Amino acid sequence: MAASPLPPAGGVCRRVLLGTSLAAAAAGRAGAQALQPGAAAAGPGLYQIAREKGLTFGAAVQAGLLASDASYAAAYEREAGLLVPEFEGKWATLQPREGEFDFAQLDAIVQWGLARGRATRGHALVWHESFPQWAVAAVAEGAPRARAVMAAHIARVLSTTRLRIRDWDVVNEAVADPPGSDTPQPEGELRNTPLLRALGPSYIETAFRMAREQDATLRLVLNDYGLEEDTPWAEEKRRRLLVLVRGLVQRKVPLDAVGIQAHLQIVRPFSRPVFRDFVRALRAEGLAVLVTELDIREGNGIPEDYVARDRLVAERAAAFTEAALEGGVRTFLTWGLVDRYSWLVSEPGVARQDGKLHRGLPLDWEFSRKEMWRAMAQAFAAA
Ligand code: XIL
Repeated sequence: MAASPLPPAGGVCRRVLLGTSLAAAAAGRAGAQALQPGAAAAGPGLYQIAREKGLTFGAAVQAGLLASDASYAAAYEREAGLLVPEFEGKWATLQPREGEFDFAQLDAIVQWGLARGRATRGHALVWHESFPQWAVAAVAEGAPRARAVMAAHIARVLSTTRLRIRDWDVVNEAVADPPGSDTPQPEGELRNTPLLRALGPSYIETAFRMAREQDATLRLVLNDYGLEEDTPWAEEKRRRLLVLVRGLVQRKVPLDAVGIQAHLQIVRPFSRPVFRDFVRALRAEGLAVLVTELDIREGNGIPEDYVARDRLVAERAAAFTEAALEGGVRTFLTWGLVDRYSWLVSEPGVARQDGKLHRGLPLDWEFSRKEMWRAMAQAFAAA
């Protein structure tokens, strides 16, 4: 990952904590400690505060950084009760060439977690990105070949990981973006992917059935983005996802849960009741709902100073987490944990265009807990 220039640490401010429970008090104490940039955090981690309420908190992690950056590893040890590989479980990493599988990086994460009593969830078996060129070419050869390629990948990955990973994103980002986005796909409600072109819409249920065939008790998750905010665009995306989910449930496809990515943007409106009711609508289909990739992007017009920026991020984190909890979400993962290593900083498509660096994760550049951490800790403690 490209190193970004080191911004001044800080962006923390004192805030009166209203929580009354022990955990909330602990969260407050830990927050005060974090006033020193880089200060060792004291008090329970986010996952411990969550666990007191029967909730799970975890974060996306990178195997390379766990091995190379001791502060990074310590932050995960402190805060994350559940791990998800940021790219080590994706197709291009696991099967870069047909029939050649490489589980080393994924295994490094799983082993690191096992040594500390932390589970790892899987992400993602079928996704149009990280789908290597050989696979694009292979599935274009026709339906039988496409089925065989998908079956072989799912079978090999799940049989290899079955004793250690009990929860997988089986299909990621299957719903097409409504018109009005950068990549509109007006031709259908499902994303136009190589597998959709080869197998039609049924590629989704085929993937779930293949996964279930491999493993009778694995939790099978459909994961997607753009579902959270109070805009006509997101409303349409929610509608499309609900249509897809209800169809799968009706056809008795083995689907256990929906993952809501939650790559939020503070410049977009958010409505607690709208989001809460969407979570409830999914749960009414008999499914669990997970927040799988929470992070918060800033946009134009965001103030200069860290204190104000961090407060805006924290306010959105609080509103979102509370609404999700009200809807019945029990598992929360952030996409990364530390601003320094966030894809919001490293990925050109999502990074700020003005050269400033996003601050959209619970820990700042120097691994200190910041306002977003405290917002989530308080929401968990008050659950
Ligand atoms: C992102 C990673 O964070 C990046 O490092 C990588 O280059 C691209 O993928 N939705 C997902 C994740 O489901 O897999 C994506 O992760 C972020 C968006």
